[in-house]
Amino acid sequence: MSVTESRTAVEHYAARVDAVLAQRTRLRGMHPGGDLFGGLPVDHPILKSDPLRPLDPNLEVIASQIKSDDVVVDVGGGAGRVSLPLALRCREVINVEPSESMGAGFISNAERAGIDNVRIVTGDWLEVDSPEGTVALVNHVTYLTREIVPFIKKLEEACSRRVIITGNSPPPPFWNSELYRLLHGEEEEMVPGHVELVNVLWELGILPDIYVLPLPVASPVVTESTREAAVQGAIGRFLGDQWSFWPLADEHHQCIREVLESRFDELFTTCSRGFTPRWITPGREILITWQPSIR
Ligand SMILES: C[S@@+](CC[C@H](N)C(=O)[O-])C[C@H]1O[C@@H](n2cnc3c(N)ncnc32)[C@H](O)[C@@H]1O
Repeated sequence: MSVTESRTAVEHYAARVDAVLAQRTRLRGMHPGGDLFGGLPVDHPILKSDPLRPLDPNLEVIASQIKSDDVVVDVGGGAGRVSLPLALRCREVINVEPSESMGAGFISNAERAGIDNVRIVTGDWLEVDSPEGTVALVNHVTYLTREIVPFIKKLEEACSRRVIITGNSPPPPFWNSELYRLLHGEEEEMVPGHVELVNVLWELGILPDIYVLPLPVASPVVTESTREAAVQGAIGRFLGDQWSFWPLADEHHQCIREVLESRFDELFTTCSRGFTPRWITPGREILITWQPSIR
């Protein structure tokens, strides 16, 4: 690409999102829309978490940014994996979340832990009346956020003290790119990650602090004790990592199973505990934070 054709960081970000969505739509058909997590059982790990669990090293770093009198606006807070433990350490948590099933998970996770300083605003961040807080928190939401500039500006308007965004490098929607290639016969388009996001921030005149946290956001490399469990687990995680459980047609289900079974010894390592996927690079979680300039 020549210099005159080069894109701004904001245009590049939108182009990445467009490329991912166009590829998935072409290969899998239109996403059905609606509640992206609606088909999941209530005890699915993405909907159920224990706010009273000990903080892992990454959550320790996030929690170290939170003060006891903070009101945390958790944008796309899901079922409260991050913000419910923080609710035990701050004044209030407000979760702005479009998915009803994530919202229901958030409330039941809070109730089970006896947490009552939390509430939900149901809706898309770009559409809701923004609550006011001191900290705007965004964990693993920005990978397909095409309108990234209004999204960021609204974060700055919503909080007086700090914006905190996390994402994983590589982004979880790209963790299974090798399986994607084997299934669909082409390289997977990669969602924008922390580099693209930081370039957008720089373009907006924001110079954030950037921390590489000790661990990946979750452990996508799971060892299963049987070959069948390893295949089933890989199919399940493939669907989840493809963001919002984009449905897989029956023939694709069949095809991914055939790929995993026929190439099992190439795709999995074997040890005394069982079978572990080889193709995933979990990487590390990245934390991006700055003091908002607006209020
Ligand atoms: C991968 S989940 C992450 C949930 C939670 N932040 C965590 O880290 O466990 C992404 C969440 O972002 C929400 N989300 C996606 N786009 C959003 C938007 N424009 N406004 C608010 N939430 C959004 C989804 O509904 C989903 O709950």
